[in-house]
Amino acid sequence: MNEKILIVEDDLNTLEGLAEILEHEKFAVSKAKNGKIALDEIKKSQFNIVLMDYLLPDKDGLEISRLILQQAPEIKIIMMTAFGSVKNAVEAMKLGIYDYLTKPIDLDELLIVIKRSIKEQQLISENIDLKEKLQQTYRFKNIIGVSGKMQEIFKKILKVANTEATVLIRGESGTGKELIARAIHYESSRASKNLVEINCASIPETLLESELFGHEKGAFTGAYKSKKGKFELAHKGTLFLDEIGELPLGVQAKLLRFLQDRIFTRVGGIENIEVDVRLIAATNKNLEQAMERSLFREDLYYRLNVIPITIAPLRERPEDIGPLIDFFIQKYSEKNQRSISGISQDTMNVLMQYKWPGNVRELENTIENAIVMTDSDRIDTTDLPAFLQSQITEESQSTVVMPEIGGHKESFKDQLVVCEREIIRRALKDAKGNKTHAARKLGFSIRTLRNKIRRLNLQY
Ligand SMILES: Nc1ncnc2c1ncn2[C@@H]1O[C@H](COP(=O)(O)OP(=O)(O)OP(=O)(O)O)[C@@H](O)[C@H]1O
Ligand SMILES: [Mg+2]
Repeated sequence: MNEKILIVEDDLNTLEGLAEILEHEKFAVSKAKNGKIALDEIKKSQFNIVLMDYLLPDKDGLEISRLILQQAPEIKIIMMTAFGSVKNAVEAMKLGIYDYLTKPIDLDELLIVIKRSIKEQQLISENIDLKEKLQQTYRFKNIIGVSGKMQEIFKKILKVANTEATVLIRGESGTGKELIARAIHYESSRASKNLVEINCASIPETLLESELFGHEKGAFTGAYKSKKGKFELAHKGTLFLDEIGELPLGVQAKLLRFLQDRIFTRVGGIENIEVDVRLIAATNKNLEQAMERSLFREDLYYRLNVIPITIAPLRERPEDIGPLIDFFIQKYSEKNQRSISGISQDTMNVLMQYKWPGNVRELENTIENAIVMTDSDRIDTTDLPAFLQSQITEESQSTVVMPEIGGHKESFKDQLVVCEREIIRRALKDAKGNKTHAARKLGFSIRTLRNKIRRLNLQY
């Protein structure tokens, strides 16, 4: 869609001339020869930009601009003034006018200003979209965890989100540390401010300090301009220091100073900079071991570890596997425009028995892959990677686990009932009494399971 520009100018030659040029540049141009018409136009349609003459016959350009900005604050107004007086400029900027140009208008300059303002508008709207998207993505509904261990974490997130306390998130790779860090930010009162993330492991040691704390011009070879660091960019928001275990000792000292006094200096700078930043750190490293080897400062550890959150590996919370599988099936069927209804019982068994060394990330990749690979509307064992298929044992192929049956004669049908009862009892026991999970594991609907529990007189 073409950007819309309104030109407000009483000199008809200038008005027509500018309109012609901008139309040639593929803008959708409207014209107004006085303030009143301009205001009517603004009411009628949405403009990206208004090109405003300072001197108008009815009202002055500043006054019209003020009225326009009241109605549509996102509009970029570019003022054209014949005087170019500093006073006008200052007044204009105070009002929230985007920029001003002096007459006679330099057309190249005009086009540059217009393009820059459009770019900014796009960035702002993208940023709003992105923030809204992120806020949705990191609502709890997108962090799956039915296990007691995850429920505890959710409670903790809600408790600590609105405090200023530093959080240290720990857990093996792929357990969801980044997800939890984001949840804390988006649940906090800083949610509308920046969440700045930095991965301490991915930046060379020499650059890390300047990335974090910024640098002054000339601080080192190549520092042609002074630059803000992540701490300054995260002002009023949250800074997420990922892989904190990789932080070099020199930078650790500087971080400690920030945590103690909330101030720091840029690299090559002398001025103390104070920022309001909430810190969240994460690591999959054993920091205690690193401290013993003098690779991690003990005093920093205690400053960071104010609120520790430890995410258990997936193999220690198997109750989460089923719900995660459902979640990823839905997510990746949508993404790949497939309609996958579920997963076969055998496949479920294999996935439940596997130890998931790569945790949730590995499970997520496995499901995405299976969805891409499968020809059917249900994921089967053949859609799993070869190494997982090779884990299919007789036990995992069938839920029928024969119970010991006493020596007395029972009809075959009775034996069947005993088997059925035992299978359901075990499923309920494995699911710690959670009927939804037991039903999923058994391939029953929850209603069927309830009926069977009643009929078989099971104590659940
Ligand atoms: N509880 C969960 N619910 C839904 N998705 C999850 C959950 N935990 C992790 N994931 C997903 O698993 C993937 C890995 O998570 P994340 O990047 O947060 O892990 P990490 O602990 O930071 O890993 P690493 O140490 O390797 O950086 C992501 O795609 C994330 O969305
Ligand atoms: Mg991570």
